[in-house]
Amino acid sequence: MLQNQPHSDALVFFGATGDLAYKKIFPSLQAMIQRGALEVPVIGVAKAGWGLDDLVERARESLEKHGGGVDDQAFAKLKSLLRYVDGDYADAATFQELRKQLDGAKRPTHYLAIPPVLFETVVEQLGASGCADNARVVVEKPFGHDLASARELNRTLQSVFPEENIFRIDHYLGKEPVQNLLYFRFANSFLEPIWNRDHIDWVQITMAEEFGVSGRGAFYENTGAIRDVIQNHMTQLVGLLAMEPPVDASSRSVRDERIKVFRSMRPLRTDEVVRGQFVGYRGEEGVDPESQTETFAAVKMHVDNWRWAGVPFYIRAGKCMPKTVTEILVHLKRPPRQIFHEIPQGEGNYFRFRLSPEIIIATGARAKSPGSGMEGEQQELRVSENASDRLEPYDRLLGDAMCGDSTLFARQDGVEAAWIAVDPILNKPTPVHYYEQGTWGPAEADHLLRKGMRWHEPGAEDA
Ligand code: BG6
Repeated sequence: MLQNQPHSDALVFFGATGDLAYKKIFPSLQAMIQRGALEVPVIGVAKAGWGLDDLVERARESLEKHGGGVDDQAFAKLKSLLRYVDGDYADAATFQELRKQLDGAKRPTHYLAIPPVLFETVVEQLGASGCADNARVVVEKPFGHDLASARELNRTLQSVFPEENIFRIDHYLGKEPVQNLLYFRFANSFLEPIWNRDHIDWVQITMAEEFGVSGRGAFYENTGAIRDVIQNHMTQLVGLLAMEPPVDASSRSVRDERIKVFRSMRPLRTDEVVRGQFVGYRGEEGVDPESQTETFAAVKMHVDNWRWAGVPFYIRAGKCMPKTVTEILVHLKRPPRQIFHEIPQGEGNYFRFRLSPEIIIATGARAKSPGSGMEGEQQELRVSENASDRLEPYDRLLGDAMCGDSTLFARQDGVEAAWIAVDPILNKPTPVHYYEQGTWGPAEADHLLRKGMRWHEPGAEDA
């Protein structure tokens, strides 16, 4: 947004034969070509003993499986842009070859779609070979394993790239409905007067996934739900919901306000987290048979600032739940006096943001039921519902990084502030409670909520 930076003249992606490239990057490249946003050489790097033809084949397969099919015209273009460098990341010769393939590019973007343990080697080699000159670098979460390792990772990146050229992908920020949280809050005037502790009672976020960890057991076992999605995706959502109005739409203003929220987050206490593990997780490939890793976490977060003092943000995220859905419910306080004495607990006024699979913004209110009594019922007004024509996150984010627009990327001070908020519950892990697959997680999660409150079940309103 509002950026005027030179566009990158080459895109390099490390880990070209890996899973992320297969599932996300090739489909994004095709989509970027389709919308005329990719015209520069695209160089894949990996150590697989492959040649360019193998990479092209892999790209084709990826598009068939994950890219909604091969678009012949776009694919022909992609083929003409693709180059491939095969070699060990520890070998300087790999980077000499990369330099050759860059063919004088003045501002390449290097996307590290590789495990974080390899970052240091690749970043140092990029620096030593001259491939990092004027270049941008894109890295993927997880940004570290905790606060200390996040700082270490950052030192590595900043030893070669200046902060303005480092793009940390939290793909949640690239999602259309997530950007809409920012837009909806600040393009309308009716929300601001009530968007505070005087009117909002509590906020709940549920990120439920019907699937488990199949194929990712080894990664997940060392990560768990708190590191995988709470420290990053979920705190970004809280940031957007809770931030103050930015002075303008520039990357700096938007990120400054979002990050102030992270800095206001009270570090979580162990009695404000419930960890769960689905039955059967321990039998997954790559998982310790006595694993204590959580596949579900529920937390009660506090944003300790003037606007949000006393408003709890309840968050739960888990695998093997009844459905795949991400939804935010912002619940307003009851009217100051109950004249009609009949509003059931949990009903009343709210805003509901469904982020996936559909995009819904809705508001709930009471209206009188027909008849002689002053009795009412819960009604919902859907103010937006649109699932088509959206840019997929990686498509959007790769394009933004190549243009130097960092608005939708995490910034180091924000990453650190989010780690500070969750570090206490990582350092002192609480017990894991088992839950059956296909349920909403362990019953213990209910104890986090205020008395009489229930977890909101996304989809209940659609019935
Ligand atoms: C990733 C996590 O960052 O986000 C996954 O590592 C999770 O475990 C995924 O499934 C969810 O993202 P999306 O866009 O599929 O909802």
